[in-house]
Amino acid sequence: MQNKENEPMHILVTGGAGYIGSHVVRQLSQMQDIKITVIDNLCGGYFDSISELKLLFQSDRFEFLNVDLNDFGRVEELFKDSKFDGVIHFAAHLQVGESVLNPLKYYMNNTVNTTHLIHMCQKYEVNKFIFSSTAAVYGEPSKMPIRETTPTAPINPYGMSKLMSELVLQDAARANQDFKYVILRYFNVAGASMDNSIGECHIHETHLIPLIVHAAIGKREKIMMFGADYPTPDGSCIRDYVHVEDLASAHIQAWHYLNEGHESDVFNCGYGHGYSVKEVIDMVKRVSGVNFKVEIALRREGDPAELIADNLKIKNIMGWKPKYDDLELICKNALNWEQKMTKKGT
Ligand code: UFG
Repeated sequence: MQNKENEPMHILVTGGAGYIGSHVVRQLSQMQDIKITVIDNLCGGYFDSISELKLLFQSDRFEFLNVDLNDFGRVEELFKDSKFDGVIHFAAHLQVGESVLNPLKYYMNNTVNTTHLIHMCQKYEVNKFIFSSTAAVYGEPSKMPIRETTPTAPINPYGMSKLMSELVLQDAARANQDFKYVILRYFNVAGASMDNSIGECHIHETHLIPLIVHAAIGKREKIMMFGADYPTPDGSCIRDYVHVEDLASAHIQAWHYLNEGHESDVFNCGYGHGYSVKEVIDMVKRVSGVNFKVEIALRREGDPAELIADNLKIKNIMGWKPKYDDLELICKNALNWEQKMTKKGT
């Protein structure tokens, strides 16, 4: 894959050491003639992913820089020094609860720093931008599945900070016909790489599947089920869990889509069906063979009863073909990964 100057395409990946970012970089490594610069401030994750990723690239094709996006001077130097062909932007804060307690942390990093990044792209004529957004932009829609045309109405600063970045991106693209974006709105990403070399490792874990797995391997005493009185068949919340490898492949499709010269657009990224918290707990019990303790707790503030993606658009327009739509596989991968991390003492 080459740019106009017949040089390898050079992609800047922000947050490329993180959970989703590292899986995308790994899949990008399989494409010939691609150069990757990852910038990450290593604030929230699994630092070993960088050494795993370095192994996949020849050294002249991969560069890692410990850069914080709020260091505007350093970010601009980078744009001046490297002729990027596109940006895949993951770096963000992602905890809903924290965003309610500390909204400015979210607006500063997720919105202000993203706005600056978009500004750099336009200033240095980097005209392809893939943005990691979230189903949280929809808030609590009453109709399932959620389509991209479902009104956006975030109910927490995290979702709002991402939606604001989407709006900046859309306005910036409207004013500059050369600049094209793909916004991917992720549903509930889970699992680990198929070869168990990279996976999820947040310093303050709040997501359901890793927490259940922690209960299964004895890293925590029990799992709390936040609410059993929702208007769902078993009373617990339903989510659309997407395997991280499939989510990563959506980014590869998005990169091809932009390179083929298509128009900017927004796509949901989910499987189009969901599982309840109880079903996920039962699945982890089954694959681990451990009957860990489950406690029913009060509802967690801001949790919608159900979030399911309508994924026809990404399948039809971008040709996304998910391969791992299988809760058992997702839970097994998550379990294997946590077992490996525990052995390593992480
Ligand atoms: N849950 C529990 N116990 C726990 C943790 C979670 O019962 O210990 C429940 C939650 O209440 C929720 C479900 O499990 O009903 C999933 O919760 P997660 O925290 O794993 O994920 P969320 O659905 O809250 O949010 C995630 C991402 C968001 C994204 C959303 C889209 O973090 O960015 O999925 O569906 F917007």
